[in-house]
Amino acid sequence: MQQHVSAETSRHPLWLLAGFWFCVVISIGVVLRRLIELIRPSHTAPPEMASLDAIFSSHAVLTAMHIIPAAIFVLLSAALLVGRSGGEWLEWLFFPFGAITGATAYAMSYWAVGGWVERSAVLVFNTWFLFSLGRAYWFRLRREPSRKREWMTRAVGILLGIATTRPVMGVFFATSSRTHLGPQQFFGVAFWIGFSINASVIELWLHSKRRTQIHQLQAVL
Ligand code: HEM
Repeated sequence: MQQHVSAETSRHPLWLLAGFWFCVVISIGVVLRRLIELIRPSHTAPPEMASLDAIFSSHAVLTAMHIIPAAIFVLLSAALLVGRSGGEWLEWLFFPFGAITGATAYAMSYWAVGGWVERSAVLVFNTWFLFSLGRAYWFRLRREPSRKREWMTRAVGILLGIATTRPVMGVFFATSSRTHLGPQQFFGVAFWIGFSINASVIELWLHSKRRTQIHQLQAVL
């Protein structure tokens, strides 16, 4: 019966899966775009884009050290959380790649286009991400799989906030002729909005999952 309960509650609703894959595709897309730009600068981008590209090219090694492990981490997350190919070795890679992504994200924020507003968002959400990753690792050591999975899900949900910032930035870019806001003004706001959306959605999902589990257990008892 216990098995039945956990199988029922571990199914992901369609909206969550759609949001997850949306974030994964955006994350991988931005990494590929940035890598191509670092390797072969285009020289044909509009001036605003070109100046952003120049910023990342000025610390290309750090940028690569952030985005390559980040992309690997996102793919590992997809395999572990959605694909359910739960190999020990995938999990063994998940934690160090997550830690590298978080550590390099702090370093990247030294050049933050959005200044202190962006840095403050990185401080809050990246710390929350690393804390969640640490808790997941702790429950892994204690051999508590369901709590480990809960904290892994939380960590990945927060981290994918980086993808949600992109459509938000897109709206700011599209409306910049009216608002007269440039990337320096809106990058930080987009970071706060994107990460807040993901952090809230993942908490609501984990909360509803817990409630379902409690109801199922009550029905069984
Ligand atoms: C906790 C999660 C993360 C945080 C806090 C974070 C933070 C940052 C920061 C502060 C920058 C520099 C932005 C600037 O200079 O204004 C950056 C750049 C970048 N990050 Fe992350 N990052 C995270 C996760 C990810 C993930 C999961 C990916 C993709 C798989 C990613 C891909 C990139 C890319 C491609 C850039 C270069 C800028 C661009 O091309 O738009 N990051 N990140």
